[in-house]
Amino acid sequence: MSASPRRTARTVLIPLSSADLDEVGALFSDDAVMEYIDGGSRSRDQTKSALAAAERCWRAEGWGRWAIRDAETGGLIGEAGLHHLFDVEGAPVAFSCTIARRHWNKGFATETGHVILLDAWERYRGDLIHSVTDPRDTAGIAVLHKLGFRMVDERLIHGTTQKLWEIQRVR
Ligand SMILES: CC(C)(COP(=O)(O)OP(=O)(O)OC[C@H]1O[C@@H](n2cnc3c(N)ncnc32)[C@H](O)[C@@H]1OP(=O)(O)O)[C@@H](O)C(=O)NCCC(=O)NCCS
Repeated sequence: MSASPRRTARTVLIPLSSADLDEVGALFSDDAVMEYIDGGSRSRDQTKSALAAAERCWRAEGWGRWAIRDAETGGLIGEAGLHHLFDVEGAPVAFSCTIARRHWNKGFATETGHVILLDAWERYRGDLIHSVTDPRDTAGIAVLHKLGFRMVDERLIHGTTQKLWEIQRVR
């Protein structure tokens, strides 16, 4: 199952797919954007695999990651949403967000993150959604605070200390 587009004030959210390869390839190959992301910047082939995984996730789980596009021009602003965390104990599903550098600090991660999380609680059955940040990622940490995540642990993940965050379903 995939999902219908969602709208925010300035953006349209569309399930991330292989059709986004050129623009997401450019986003994920930017060293500044990927500085604090596990594994750093991605080759085009790595992005191709990531987009195929995102498509499989939408089909298998009914939730996943979204392309964030400008509501007027259709240009890619970034991507965000839920993905599996396969190797972090007690944290199977995580939220993440990546915004193109030219759009940083315009409020896009916060604006879209609220809508994506609200939508995610209708699709995902669990009561907790996690997120992982590098302790140096001050912008990422600021956004998680604004979205309502709280820091619950510091863990060694893939050889580096990372902050583990969670947000809980409101009943
Ligand atoms: C983190 C990221 C998604 C934020 O996107 P964004 O659209 O610029 O975020 P917003 O504009 O909604 O909010 C950014 C917040 O970070 C704050 N911020 C930005 N740079 C900062 C810095 N160096 N130190 C402290 N706070 C900082 C801004 O002030 C803002 O908070 P405020 O509204 O309270 O002032 C973007 O910087 C990015 O893609 N970074 C690379 C990938 C990444 O690190 N993702 C986080 C993993 S979840």
